[in-house]
Amino acid sequence: MKFLFINGVNLNMTGVREKGIYGDLTLDEINLEITNRFKDDICEFFQSNIEGEICSQIQNAQSEGFDGIILNAGAFTHYSYAIRDAIASVSVPVIEVHMSNVHSREEFRHKSVISEVCKGVICGFGKNSYVLAAQSFKL
Ligand code: DQA
Repeated sequence: MKFLFINGVNLNMTGVREKGIYGDLTLDEINLEITNRFKDDICEFFQSNIEGEICSQIQNAQSEGFDGIILNAGAFTHYSYAIRDAIASVSVPVIEVHMSNVHSREEFRHKSVISEVCKGVICGFGKNSYVLAAQSFKL
């Protein structure tokens, strides 16, 4: 299968910021682990702090033949109607992921404006949230 892993705002700081919540590994190290785990699949990775760039990646995923998008939109999750509309505009299924359990954290993290247009939501398993999301496409 062909997967697109998209990480949004501040996820480039993974391994540097709030290590107690997001862990010690950098995003590149996490992505390498994912690549090694899904050797029979094509895994592509994109990170941006810019909302519109994430929308463009989601839009392009359709013509680029991706079977699924694994999206950790970071804080955009909680307020980006633009990303929500981009997800709704493509037929490629999107799984929303979070490394932390957003429901056990501050109240503003309990609300996602993208869940409604996603195939499913996985949160709270650290870097394995990405792995579980990709595996779910194979069930
Ligand atoms: C996050 C949770 C978000 O609330 C937060 O803004 C992030 C990371 C996670 O992976 O747990 O940047 O998406």
